[in-house]
Amino acid sequence: MIDKIKAYIYEVERFTTDNTEDLEQFRIQYLGKKGILNTFFAEFKNVPNEQKKEFGKTINELKVSAQSKVEQLKSEIASKIEDKGLYGDLSRPGEPLEIGARHPISLVKNRITTIFSNIGFNVSEGPEIEDDWHNFSALNLPEYHPARDMQDTFFIQTDPKDILLRTHTSSVQVRYMENNEPPIRTISPGRVFRNEDISARSHCIFHQVEGLYIDKNVSFKDLKQTLIYFTQELFGKSKIRLRPSYFPFTEPSAEVDIYWGLETETDYRITKGTGWLEIMGCGMVDPNVLKNCDIDPKEYSGFAFGMGIERIAMLLYQIGDIRMFYENDVRFLKQFKSSL
Ligand code: DAH
Repeated sequence: MIDKIKAYIYEVERFTTDNTEDLEQFRIQYLGKKGILNTFFAEFKNVPNEQKKEFGKTINELKVSAQSKVEQLKSEIASKIEDKGLYGDLSRPGEPLEIGARHPISLVKNRITTIFSNIGFNVSEGPEIEDDWHNFSALNLPEYHPARDMQDTFFIQTDPKDILLRTHTSSVQVRYMENNEPPIRTISPGRVFRNEDISARSHCIFHQVEGLYIDKNVSFKDLKQTLIYFTQELFGKSKIRLRPSYFPFTEPSAEVDIYWGLETETDYRITKGTGWLEIMGCGMVDPNVLKNCDIDPKEYSGFAFGMGIERIAMLLYQIGDIRMFYENDVRFLKQFKSSL
């Protein structure tokens, strides 16, 4: 029996807790009315006389150590609660929740897609990893075209050179025409990749928005009117000019300039003193491209255009270095908080 009490003493000494319920449980178990101590005290009368003295001493030891354990843990728990307070330290300064901002590229992309969806364009997307057909061949890009060169294109598969990171969103035109019947009005925003040196003006990853309109009797007039509507909505300026240009997938092709004006010093700088700024490429979809996508060029015609989102964002927000879009510096991103 004495060994049993000693085992309890050992257990009491080892016991620890930091919560009040467990401590109360412990107190009842040892010191309660029907607790371990009282059970041993009740046994006292049955203990042979010669052992009574040692029994009494040991059981007293158990009592004292259980009582002091309860006192010790009680004050430890109390001081911890005092430290924290029930709700933590109420005098600590609040932790501000930083509200994020949309990325300027997303802001401009959303504005462009809204402007076009207001006149009936839907939004379509295509894969960033493309094949030669959708990025080049179907778009009438002949094999000797410089855009196919290793220097401009990131090829994923080089033997044969078939799988690549798309160099423009025009590849989505092809996919869309392959899978949909005219009339087609679609706008395709997305990321594009070119093997170019990174500088303040150009990057190897950037964004474009492609537009495509195919129907019966679509003419260059429709293209021009759509662009005037677009520039008015986006920049609040509708004076544009179409300069003859060349793209393999459009015939005729044009480069679109917007009259930015020459009011400020910045206007002089960004327009190189001319007042005009180039904002996109466009043209009438080449009959060969329609044929490649199983659309009859005798029945249908259409226009297409493509623009770089970074370039437009740089104009709208007066950003001087394209690399800022990709650095994710919060001091830069924060500035777009109030923009929609
Ligand atoms: N794909 C051209 C580029 O990346 C942009 C472009 C020009 C797209 C004319 C078009 C277009 O749809 O008609 O530079």
